[in-house]
Amino acid sequence: MQTVAVIGTQWGDEGKGKIVDLLATDADLVVRFQGGNNAAHTLVVDGEKFILRMVPAGALHPGKICVIGNGMVIDPFALIEELERLKAHSHPLTPDRLKISCDAHLVMPYHRLIDRAREARLGARKVGTTGFGIGPAYEDKMARSGLRFADLAKPAAFRTRLEYNLKEKNLYLKNVLKAKPVNAKSLMAQIGPMRRRLTSYIADTAGFVAEAVAAGRRVLFEGAHGTMLDIDHGTYPFVTSSNCVASAVFSGGGLPPGKLDAVLGVAKAYATRVGGGPFPTEIKSALGDRLREEGDEFGSATGRPRRIGWYDAVLARYAARLNGMWGLALTKLDVLTGVNPLRICYAYQAGGRRYDEMPPGRAALEKVRPLYEELPGWDQDISGARSLADLPENARRYLDRIVELGGTKLSMVGVGAGREAIIVLENPFLS
Ligand code: IMP
Repeated sequence: MQTVAVIGTQWGDEGKGKIVDLLATDADLVVRFQGGNNAAHTLVVDGEKFILRMVPAGALHPGKICVIGNGMVIDPFALIEELERLKAHSHPLTPDRLKISCDAHLVMPYHRLIDRAREARLGARKVGTTGFGIGPAYEDKMARSGLRFADLAKPAAFRTRLEYNLKEKNLYLKNVLKAKPVNAKSLMAQIGPMRRRLTSYIADTAGFVAEAVAAGRRVLFEGAHGTMLDIDHGTYPFVTSSNCVASAVFSGGGLPPGKLDAVLGVAKAYATRVGGGPFPTEIKSALGDRLREEGDEFGSATGRPRRIGWYDAVLARYAARLNGMWGLALTKLDVLTGVNPLRICYAYQAGGRRYDEMPPGRAALEKVRPLYEELPGWDQDISGARSLADLPENARRYLDRIVELGGTKLSMVGVGAGREAIIVLENPFLS
């Protein structure tokens, strides 16, 4: 297949970075199409850990072209830091290898301040955002007042728009949020060097992607966050501010509709979520703490401890439908080693009724009780497994149940942190 999207099927942090890194080997272009530096894709290459926030995972593959699509919001200062870090690790990204959409929006320091001040004001009702200004930047995009990446090439117009926005934002920060305003002078002083560093990356990425597809090149779309954090289909308002489902590939990445060949959904062998919001299968016992430690379940972007839960097949079926999933990549199976018995949620119960499919509305999800089936665990180290036959019988049974209950065929199984620690049953680019 020629065009493949990798999409999170839970609440983000499913281990998409590792899957994208693997598929990038066979792709010509790797495209991010939504979100910003609220994402953090962790890759372990030769024992070294890389965390990519805005730059696609293709960055670690020499010769691959990386695209930051129009659907993204970019913190230009954080992007410069990311590019510098990559350069320091011998992965420099010059404009021939990194194309940034002229239409992508910029996250400015006032967006970050608004995000944090609002969360503080909400207190116990807070969303639990990453605090990187993502929501306020998307708000400006929708309000048609945002600054776009192409504006960096027009210094005078950029300055005028920024000054206008700053005035309004500072009034809001001071008078409504009771927070410290942005120092206009010091922000203006940072704009010049930032502009000079980034303008050469401006590109018409939607056109670039469409041309690449027409020319028969392989394109990989790297989703961020997860289906349950999608602004429309997730657990609103405990969601991020972009569409994270596969359809965002068209609006945020510029792929012509009908040209997407496969969606590979990624799920962890258990579940996690960061921030507030309903989480039906959450484990509140010491087992949750143990899995958090063993799975290193602390936010890569924020360091926050993640909430831990059992695998939820209701959610898996919902994600399969919304994303039109072709296959499932299940990650971190090794973290479940030694857990006995294992549980899988196959349906929900609420008000005397059984729900096999996701009930509509967040309020409903808050009330459901998960119905579990139990399966026997295994104790053997599975990190060296490279085929299903290498796995203990109980691990295979667990995988079989996930496939039966979720309705999507298994394409990959992650058995450890390293690039090589994976069982590949089918690679969509080679199918
Ligand atoms: P925001 O995207 O920073 O506005 O945060 C909104 C919600 O999405 C919060 O619950 C965050 O914890 C969550 N979130 C955003 N990005 C990620 C991610 O990459 N992984 C997990 N959770 C995320």
